Amino acid sequence: MRKIFVVRRLLDVVLSELRSLGEVEVYNKEDVIPKEELMERVRDVDAVVPLPGVDIDRDVISCMRKCIIIANYAVGYNNIDIDAASDRGILVTNTPDVLTEATADLAWALMLAVARRIVEGDRFVREGRFKGMDPLLLLGEDIYGKTLGVVGAGRIGTAVARRGVGFDMRLLYYSRHRHDKIERVGAEYVDLSTLLKESDFVSLNVPYTKETHHLINAKALALMKSNAILVNTARGPVVDEKALVDALKSGVIRGAGLDVYEREPEVTPELMSLQRVVLTPHMGSASYRARLKMGKLVVKNIRAAFDGEVPPNLLNGSRIRKSH
Ligand code: NAP
Ligand code: GLV
Repeated sequence: MRKIFVVRRLLDVVLSELRSLGEVEVYNKEDVIPKEELMERVRDVDAVVPLPGVDIDRDVISCMRKCIIIANYAVGYNNIDIDAASDRGILVTNTPDVLTEATADLAWALMLAVARRIVEGDRFVREGRFKGMDPLLLLGEDIYGKTLGVVGAGRIGTAVARRGVGFDMRLLYYSRHRHDKIERVGAEYVDLSTLLKESDFVSLNVPYTKETHHLINAKALALMKSNAILVNTARGPVVDEKALVDALKSGVIRGAGLDVYEREPEVTPELMSLQRVVLTPHMGSASYRARLKMGKLVVKNIRAAFDGEVPPNLLNGSRIRKSH
């Protein structure tokens, strides 16, 4: 019987589909699985289902005695050492597309929440401080007609830009290459400095790589408008979190909406005390539908690997050095 190890609980319906493929073990606790336990539990399984925040690095991969596939429950796969997996002939897959719209929705939810001070307003009412409409209360930023800059013109970045059309926004984008899809929704290709200088809202939608580490640092933040709002639904370390705190405190930029953090699940304490900041717990894809579809893709990828077929979302097909 095949064995599958899942690093965190998933929807029951997904777990029962996984059980049709083999014996499933789940790390069921609230915290991130400690590395030592992870190294132990991947030892004799045929498939591992990790997710962001659980690093499948070379040490962990070296413990895998019979693993065929690492089927990430996420589209971003910076948590997996693909080279190490490829060296061992282990397939690596992810869950693209099915979470694109949900994540773009969350980027917009953060933009709207920060600009229009929704969380502060909610707190104000709950604290019993609402004494009737006050013309000076919680004044925020317009979104309609402003400029939105998207960094990383892939699936999610394009979906974020598309939503801007309904808000009559000027759309700018920066990516390593030009992309037709985002240009077809009216976005103009500019370099990163121009995007930072001219945007009222900046949405980060790049993967986390060596090149995107601290892409938004003190120097980049200094280029932004003083009323600008930064939204990060990509990966925490794309932003230098300390530089961001300094920029927010000194008024270099107006606000930030963050779904991801540099040292997840740790959050820089100062971020929690800043007013024009909205923080969510890495929940970009957390609509029921998206999470269900991600689970179904994980099952599909594992089933294909177990059947000796090429999984639909294979990331390292050309790099595998040893075939099963
Ligand atoms: P994607 O389709 O691969 O898009 C990413 C785009 O970033 C690519 O099209 C690429 O375009 C661009 N890019 C890559 N490296 C770059 C660099 N150094 N500088 C500028 N642009 C660069 O991926 P996606 O599906 O949109 O997902 C994007 C990321 O969002 C994921 O990797 C993940 O980290 C994150 N995510 C987070 C959540 C969440 O819950 N918060 C949910 C889903 C995804 P070029 O061809 O121009 O390089
Ligand atoms: C979530 O962070 C993902 O990359 O899917």
